[in-house]
Amino acid sequence: DTPYLVDTYGRRATDLRVSLTDRCNLRCRYCMPEEGLPWLPKDEVLNTGELIRLITLAVQELGVTEVRFTGGEPLLRPDLATVVAALAALKQRPRMSITTNGLSLRRKAAELAEAGLDRVNVSLDSIRRDTYHRMTRRDRLGDVLAGLGAASRAGLAPVKINAVLLRGINDDQARELLDFCLENGYRLRFIEQMPLDAGRTWERRDMVTADEILHQLSRGYTLTPVPVPRGSAPAEEWLVDGGPQTIGVIASVTRPFCGNCDRTRLTADGQVRNCLFAQDEADLRGPMRAGATDTELAHRWQDVMWAKAPGHGIDSASFAPPARPMSAIGG
Ligand code: GTP
Ligand code: 5AD
Ligand code: SF4
Repeated sequence: DTPYLVDTYGRRATDLRVSLTDRCNLRCRYCMPEEGLPWLPKDEVLNTGELIRLITLAVQELGVTEVRFTGGEPLLRPDLATVVAALAALKQRPRMSITTNGLSLRRKAAELAEAGLDRVNVSLDSIRRDTYHRMTRRDRLGDVLAGLGAASRAGLAPVKINAVLLRGINDDQARELLDFCLENGYRLRFIEQMPLDAGRTWERRDMVTADEILHQLSRGYTLTPVPVPRGSAPAEEWLVDGGPQTIGVIASVTRPFCGNCDRTRLTADGQVRNCLFAQDEADLRGPMRAGATDTELAHRWQDVMWAKAPGHGIDSASFAPPARPMSAIGG
């Protein structure tokens, strides 16, 4: 059998997204309710050693070359730098990045860069203090901006910014977000809102589409497609006013990119998923704690990936969102 993670459609997963915790210190409207969610009990969450073991297995035995830490909010894990350092010491050192809300980057960016982290993507939906507060239900814009600066200074480059636009809240702010990113040298990407919120409030007709965002931006800027193939990247990119700076759009809903997907996922409680939208998960934590060998765990991981569906099917009549919200699956 092949040592890789492949599926019946010929896709190979080389990009592992690991959720480190389902908890978060923000409450973004498109993600979770004000009161939070029933968090995973601590003993169900992978500990430092278990995380390092499973990620190392993916890198050494299953062909994973990129590791991205997500959440919830990954910076809430006090052992992140320890995990990063352990992976950086591997002979086949993976590229490593995090997707974070940025609140604690000011304090942690330098330490993480030193441990071997390569890049950060930071969620930022508005640069107006009142809109940011309304979007995330927390008055923390200043902390994010300080965190972005710290990330740049630590060399965690390129710093990318993820923005979700919600109708009636920040859908008029695409251009000012782009202005801010151009001034500061951050790479902005807009993300279409996906049906993954805990409250199941997503409505396709409310979603701000990629076309709408590009139309808004084209009133202030000239956008031309980036002349390099996109590969498996979720973002489509355009040069802004001839470049070199770019703007990206992640149009998961209106222009799905599942056909080129190279991702596999591990949740904070040790479940493997073959897709953000998968209905099924396979438990690695139970077998691992019961003494399974690396070979047994690797086979289980391969079996899950083999069964990957061709696409998320958001537009099909039979679509149902996954049982767990995005904050528990990993962004
Ligand atoms: P880089 O391009 O390597 O910087 O990372 P990325 O864009 O893959 O990662 P990031 O965590 O910043 O994710 C940006 C958005 O893309 C988030 O909303 C993710 O949920 C979404 N995304 C990431 N992977 C997938 C995927 O496999 N399918 C879908 N539909 N969306 C994804
Ligand atoms: N749809 C699209 N993007 C989302 N994110 C969180 N929830 C959603 C959603 N329902 C974004 C976050 C973060 C990234 C991991 O995904 O803002 O930047
Ligand atoms: Fe937290 Fe990310 Fe969800 Fe916002 S989108 S509440 S930052 S997990």
